[in-house]
Amino acid sequence: MENYILEMKNITVSFPGVKALDGAEFSLKKGEIHALLGENGAGKSTLMKVLTGVNHLDSGQILYDGKSYTGFHIEQAKELGISMIYQELNLVPELTVYENIFLGKELRKNGRIDKKKMIQTSADIIKTLGIKMDPLEKIKNLTMAYRQMVEIARSILNNPKILIMDEPTGPLTDNEVIILFDTMKRLKEKGVSIIYISHRLEEIFMVCDTCTVFRDGHFIQTMDVKDTDKNELVKLMVGRELNNQYPNRIPVPENAGNILEVKHLKAEKVHDISFSLRKGEILGIGGLVGSGRTETLRALFGADNHTGEIIKNGEKIKIQSPEDAINHGIVLVTEDRKGQGLLLNLSVSDNIVMPTLKKRKKGLFLDKKGIGTDVQSMISQLRIKTPSENQIVAFLSGGNQQKVIIGRWLIANSDIILFDEPTRGIDVGAKYEIYTLMNELKKAGKSVIMVSSDMPELMGMSDRIIVLAEGRLTGSLSDADHFSQEEIMASASDI
Ligand SMILES: Nc1ncnc2c1ncn2[C@@H]1O[C@H](COP(=O)(O)OP(=O)(O)OP(=O)(O)O)[C@@H](O)[C@H]1O
Ligand SMILES: [Mg+2]
Repeated sequence: MENYILEMKNITVSFPGVKALDGAEFSLKKGEIHALLGENGAGKSTLMKVLTGVNHLDSGQILYDGKSYTGFHIEQAKELGISMIYQELNLVPELTVYENIFLGKELRKNGRIDKKKMIQTSADIIKTLGIKMDPLEKIKNLTMAYRQMVEIARSILNNPKILIMDEPTGPLTDNEVIILFDTMKRLKEKGVSIIYISHRLEEIFMVCDTCTVFRDGHFIQTMDVKDTDKNELVKLMVGRELNNQYPNRIPVPENAGNILEVKHLKAEKVHDISFSLRKGEILGIGGLVGSGRTETLRALFGADNHTGEIIKNGEKIKIQSPEDAINHGIVLVTEDRKGQGLLLNLSVSDNIVMPTLKKRKKGLFLDKKGIGTDVQSMISQLRIKTPSENQIVAFLSGGNQQKVIIGRWLIANSDIILFDEPTRGIDVGAKYEIYTLMNELKKAGKSVIMVSSDMPELMGMSDRIIVLAEGRLTGSLSDADHFSQEEIMASASDI
């Protein structure tokens, strides 16, 4: 008999118009790191929210720590030792590490806040995580990885038996990922069971013991990680063979001229960058987190102030706002779907057409029919999983929200598309579709600038790559058949 902390059987959860989980099962052993895999909308987050008491079962049974349940309340889940690290970290930037760890759970002695004890306990927890961090440091001075550590420290305070991590590595650099994995292994040694959700399949092989695949709300299979490989996992997730990760590269026409020239671009974190973009080209921008890649795109899109020259089709243009950029046919697909992109309370359709609404008039009226057709075609091209175009975006799964943003800018009929981490949080099958779409854009004579931390993606899709380090251009690679990861990394750390 295996030693299970959790067994979930025959789990069904529905929302209006959607059966998010349909007879699913999931079993977790004590002290293992268990990956939960599946395409966008497969039901991963929904299952985790059952554990944290956010979602409730239509039917099913949960056996947790020897007792039987048909669901949890939020407070009850916490008390029982089920803890979740949320992707949108809930920390107060102005407060210190220890204050955040103890937020709402402050220790008292004789009625007064026991600062000393809280700092000491925080230091102890930080030590068990295997990292160095000052409990008195303010959150705003920490990198993403360390902020996440604070979030983990905070949940350790509850002595969790199960720790759930839903796509925790999205905003982390490679080195930071290693730190996180070390911490996870330490927690596992202490007997904590970890459920790990990620679309980066390589990570599964670095840190997980077991994996379970879901597809369309159904349980597919549970395996030992050592008995499987990436191809098999992809096949189980997607439900069909997926042979290539990237479509064939479409060469840029030899006579293609520059559509864009950027000269001496300066903005916050961008220190005098010049480059050009050809018609029908995908220009990749590599570099580490914080190298000024996102800021370069934001400057070109008019989202941040900048100086320097932007020349489009030989003519100098002024971009002082996103509206200017859109009018000049330049759009930005952002990585941060909550912060800069989506209006969560509006429908899929509204979110897709919103920025280009002004262009969508027929006479005095909105061209509703045209909009409907375009939205439908985006939903099917990008395989956005939604019961209808009128569904509120907040109810879509994370990856499907990302697709809505992509759809928004593809519909905008622009000729330069700036992509910032276009496939973050997107499942393997849908990634391929987005790459195919990029190629379609190329074929249509449009140009793409793509920032990506995913090295294989950067090399697999770009025609040319420039590399930034601390806001300066430190490398340029133009031989697409022989891109080298070493060369990109060397330029990226050339400070
Ligand atoms: N509160 C809700 N109301 C309506 N539908 C919902 C709600 N929560 C989830 N869904 C739907 O349930 C399905 C499963 O969503 P879930 O968030 O569990 O997917 P996921 O596997 O986590 O995907 P991703 O990898 O994109 O994060 C999706 O079709 C989603 O739109
Ligand atoms: Mg999810």
